[in-house]
Amino acid sequence: MRKPSLYMTGQLQKMANSRAHVSVVLAMSADGKIADRDRTAARFSSANDLAYLEALVAKADAVLFGADTLRAYGTCLSVRQPDLIAQRKSRQQPSQPMQIVCSQSGKLDPQWRFFRQPVPRWLLTSRTGTQRWSEIAGDGSTNFDQILPDLEEPMDWRSLLQRFHQLGIQRLALLGGGTVVASFAEQALIDELYLTICPLLLGGKTAPTPFDGVGLVLSQALKLRLVELRQVEDEVFLHYRRCQPPGD
Ligand SMILES: NC(=O)c1ccc[n+]([C@@H]2O[C@H](COP(=O)([O-])OP(=O)(O)OC[C@H]3O[C@@H](n4cnc5c(N)ncnc54)[C@H](OP(=O)(O)O)[C@@H]3O)[C@@H](O)[C@H]2O)c1
Repeated sequence: MRKPSLYMTGQLQKMANSRAHVSVVLAMSADGKIADRDRTAARFSSANDLAYLEALVAKADAVLFGADTLRAYGTCLSVRQPDLIAQRKSRQQPSQPMQIVCSQSGKLDPQWRFFRQPVPRWLLTSRTGTQRWSEIAGDGSTNFDQILPDLEEPMDWRSLLQRFHQLGIQRLALLGGGTVVASFAEQALIDELYLTICPLLLGGKTAPTPFDGVGLVLSQALKLRLVELRQVEDEVFLHYRRCQPPGD
């Protein structure tokens, strides 16, 4: 058998290293909060913003969010606009993106409406979380299509994004909250940020922000480039791309 050329080996290596592209999508108050001090569902943005969010979700192969976001809403955002579903079909995507819940504990409520929504669901959890969820879900009549027991401490998000890519997830929308976004940001795994600034003040030093966790020192800050700025009524829609370091 012929040995693969150096070029082929390089291409194979590149394919193996390819990872899902990560777009963070959030709505934020004018004072930098993504929810109120009680961490309730962030229902403060306009119908324009919800339509924008739906369009961004519709572009993704999968969306990922933290368990506390699901605890706050009890639902996920499915794609409902017929034209967006038609566009997905024309791109050979299934009608709905995969909805991936990230939960270390596996403590989720099978009664949430989320489990009755007509969307594909995955659970990204730990080994303990897998066990706990199987005890909670019982006979599995309300369940996930797939359970990934790969959530570890510390989490190697890059490897997971590479695995997602191999599974056909090229575009991942990260929908919050601040804890999940922080764990991606701390590993410099955010490629884009879509941020809607909404006209209200929420305050509260423990209210969630787009990027919580322990944060970065200034020398490690992720640098962004503003690619779009749009005002619609009292909201400002910002789209940033991260300045990619070489080889990322
Ligand atoms: N304005 C917006 O656009 C927007 C968007 C989304 C959410 N929100 C708001 O944000 C709030 C929720 O945000 P949050 O920061 O409190 O929580 P979150 O990021 O939604 O979820 C945190 C939970 O996710 C799991 N998790 C996250 N990262 C993990 C990691 N690296 N390893 C293991 N498990 C991980 C853990 O679940 P377990 O506890 O199950 O282990 C953790 O407790 C809510 O108030 C919601 O309304 C606002």
